[in-house]
Amino acid sequence: MRIINVVGARPNFIKIAPIMAAWSGHSGVEPLLVHTGQHYDEKMSDLFFRQLGIPEPDINLEIGSASHARQTAGIMTAFEKTLQDHPADAVLVVGDVNSTIACGIVAVKMGVKLIHVEAGLRSFDRDMPEEINRVLTDSISNLLFCTEESGIENLQREGIDPGKIHLVGNVMIDTLLRNRERAAETAVMEDLKLTESGYGVVTLHRPSNVDNPEALRGIFEALNTIATRLPLIFPMHPRTRKSAETAGLLSTPGEHIRIIEPVGYLEFLRLVDCARMILSDSGGIQEECTVLKTPCLTLRENTERPVTVETGANRLVGNNPDVIVKAFSDVMKSDPSEIRIPPLWDGRAAERIASKTVEVLQATD
Ligand code: UD1
Ligand code: UDP
Repeated sequence: MRIINVVGARPNFIKIAPIMAAWSGHSGVEPLLVHTGQHYDEKMSDLFFRQLGIPEPDINLEIGSASHARQTAGIMTAFEKTLQDHPADAVLVVGDVNSTIACGIVAVKMGVKLIHVEAGLRSFDRDMPEEINRVLTDSISNLLFCTEESGIENLQREGIDPGKIHLVGNVMIDTLLRNRERAAETAVMEDLKLTESGYGVVTLHRPSNVDNPEALRGIFEALNTIATRLPLIFPMHPRTRKSAETAGLLSTPGEHIRIIEPVGYLEFLRLVDCARMILSDSGGIQEECTVLKTPCLTLRENTERPVTVETGANRLVGNNPDVIVKAFSDVMKSDPSEIRIPPLWDGRAAERIASKTVEVLQATD
């Protein structure tokens, strides 16, 4: 039973690590790993393979950066050749990036079963490229694995056969739980001279925040105000660095904002674990904050991960500077120990995915 596992962008590496490990418990499965090359910088890709012990990709499509159409089309063309050269019983894709939908379309059109991990999440915001990728990938998948109850409800509302949908927990949290102690052994806190709960962490990369200079300027204004009360560490995504440079924002960051290169998974996990608060527009970081009980301000109007709000970890604050600063003040007064952990976020999602996949593929043989 050959299963091709696809990764392309930073969050995909974190999600695939426990899945690749779980296949080794199933002797009948031959897992292949395909890297599309959507992310390629050492600090956005290779570092994660090393830190998380992910096997070297069997194939790297080396697509790199481009417009949506060129990137998606490039991945599709290259992945079609991969599937011709390596016929497979199933293709497994994770998350919501361009690599996810590109390989998904190729698989189903070649008659190969498609498995989507992290299915059903919906922001209901079709201006987000990820929302398009999610809706389309789910609509063509044969097996859909959900992280939270809202995913099941969304898929059922869209008319997807309930027999294909399974609530399994969260592979990103599998990786977190496996690596939390290793993260504590890194020297990142000492290197950055940080003390527990004495700082906040910022990440930004959503086009709606960073590609619009006005929006980005407003966010920097809010961060400057916040940083006078809580020093901020800002590992900056390459997309954001380009936009911030163009907008002239990098020459005058606030005194207490430290902009650094993206950091490795273990270092980032440690930074989030010890922070007083996170300010971010990331998808996955909302979930990591929930389990680490570190409050998260999400600089977006919506979230596809509503459970992170329901459990008390996450607040949606958009990108208006006044709203961000007000929410910051509120969260500084809150008690993070009251944050609750969603069902099945227990470190065993990948095992459930592997077992159910084998069962379904054997049954349809
Ligand atoms: C992509 C995903 C997004 C995900 C994010 C995770 C899509 C549509 N977007 O956004 O859903 O949340 O990854 O980080 O799939 N760049 C580099 N080096 C790299 C990678 C990118 O310099 O290794 C720069 C390039 O200028 C590139 C830009 O970042 O044009 C954007 O990269 P891209 O992969 O297109 O989108 P992300 O913003 O990273
Ligand atoms: N992350 C990291 N180093 C960083 C920033 C983020 O290792 O400097 C990790 C973070 O812990 C999470 C993942 O990258 O597991 C989230 O990726 P990102 O925010 O780029 O994508 P999204 O989840 O929004 O798709």
